[in-house]
Amino acid sequence: KSRGEVRIHENLDELSTDLADYIAELSEASVKERGFFAIALSGGSIISLMRNLCGAPYNKTVDWSKWYIFWADERVVAKNHVDSNYKLAKDNLLSKLPIVPSHVHSINDSLTAEEAANDYEFVIRQLVRTRVVNVSEVSDCPKFDLVLLGMGPDGHVASLFPNHSVLEEKNEWVTFITTSPKPPPERITFTLPVINSAANVAVVVTGGGKAEASRLAIDDVGPECPVLPARMIEPAAGKLVWFLDNQAASKLKGF
Ligand code: 6PG
Repeated sequence: KSRGEVRIHENLDELSTDLADYIAELSEASVKERGFFAIALSGGSIISLMRNLCGAPYNKTVDWSKWYIFWADERVVAKNHVDSNYKLAKDNLLSKLPIVPSHVHSINDSLTAEEAANDYEFVIRQLVRTRVVNVSEVSDCPKFDLVLLGMGPDGHVASLFPNHSVLEEKNEWVTFITTSPKPPPERITFTLPVINSAANVAVVVTGGGKAEASRLAIDDVGPECPVLPARMIEPAAGKLVWFLDNQAASKLKGF
């Protein structure tokens, strides 16, 4: 038995096609239901895997004016720095889509990590108040329509790294770390309660280097399973979908 829905693809092209379809469908449903689509992005390979959204048919079918963009995690660097998740998304995705500039909620890059985390939580609180971001029925957290995550070979998601005290955070929506094992060291991240309050969480994982982490995160591996951040993703009232390529899926049971 695995956790969530697992979609395995032959190659990155097929994965990208399915991922764009999935995002467009959630966008349509969410705009129909509540008039907004609040989506949180991550850094890393996920952005280029979303590339199909920039072309047909999505350029015509998606109601981009209803999109509100957030980041599940960000590195504490200037917005124009090569390490910035905002810059990655802007250069490769957002600048090619007709998104309303004021709907792009990047993290304030003129603050310290701690200040920026508090500031971002405050920004989200304002948008929850006006219901641009929905509110969870099962926690007092925001309920993002979609949180998109990548996963590292160590099983980290967003900037939630293994054996880090940040995994225990129960109260904050957004927090910071200064000791990320993946550079750069200072980061801001959604906490587990926020990710697990989302309506939809998708984790996109590709490459053989992540096969073992995928197995540990997804399969029913029994009590000896190490505590993997990706395994702690369990949307309480939402849906979890894994997008894997063949290589990342190669160690799953029944593959
Ligand atoms: C970051 C991330 C991080 C990323 C994973 C996977 O800022 O580094 O948000 O959680 O998504 O490390 O990255 P890759 O898909 O590039 O391996």
